[in-house]
Amino acid sequence: MLLTGEDIGALEKRYRGRFINAVTGVKSASLIGTKSKGGDENLALFSSVVHIGAHPPLIGFVMRPVHVERHTYKNIVSTGHYTINGVTDRMHERAHQTSAKYPAGTSEFEACGIEKVYLEKFSAPFCAESAVKIGCVLEDDIAIPANNTRLIVGRIVLLSVPGQYVHADGYVDLAAASVAAITGLDGYHSLNPVKRYSHAEPEKKLKQTFP
Ligand SMILES: Cc1cc2nc3c(=O)[nH]c(=O)nc-3n(C[C@H](O)[C@H](O)[C@H](O)COP(=O)(O)O)c2cc1C
Repeated sequence: MLLTGEDIGALEKRYRGRFINAVTGVKSASLIGTKSKGGDENLALFSSVVHIGAHPPLIGFVMRPVHVERHTYKNIVSTGHYTINGVTDRMHERAHQTSAKYPAGTSEFEACGIEKVYLEKFSAPFCAESAVKIGCVLEDDIAIPANNTRLIVGRIVLLSVPGQYVHADGYVDLAAASVAAITGLDGYHSLNPVKRYSHAEPEKKLKQTFP
């Protein structure tokens, strides 16, 4: 298969979305939890969550164009708080269902059978069964003019992960935590750890550890 930019533009809309989203590789499956100013809880699935930096600890994700109602976006902008929760192998069917367009007053926690939990005094709800739970405050909301999407950048202010999954050097064993991954918009995977490598330097043989 060899496609030019023109060929890609001519693809059927849903096919193109699935195809282009998939070719960049496997992504993390995250549920973003928010609460509106009026107290409505919201949960939605996102596959574009990405590491921005560790110091300060920053996470980004891409928000689709906001000219239509987007509850996650509205709640993040109005409250400044949101949670990012790792989807596990046991959750992906219910997590996928949260991507349906539920009305603003409907909590996807209830509608999709995902238990919520509040941690410390953080105002946005977390997913109780997610091994990795991250509380973020909004730092930047950056327009991407090329396609009217937005890069939402948050700073981690609360993080919960069971100590049994965190190695002495800070590596998080997501496979042991049964974290799921996504291809495109609908393909879910379990993780299969293969190797860890030492810091790469020219002319120096890598050390390997497993996983
Ligand atoms: C696998 C998958 C990944 C998704 N990733 C994103 C994403 O990265 N960014 C986004 O804006 N929407 C993404 N969506 C769409 C949202 O889940 C969907 O628009 C949802 O209805 C938003 O809910 P809300 O209006 O309550 O925020 C994804 C959907 C699926 C099925």
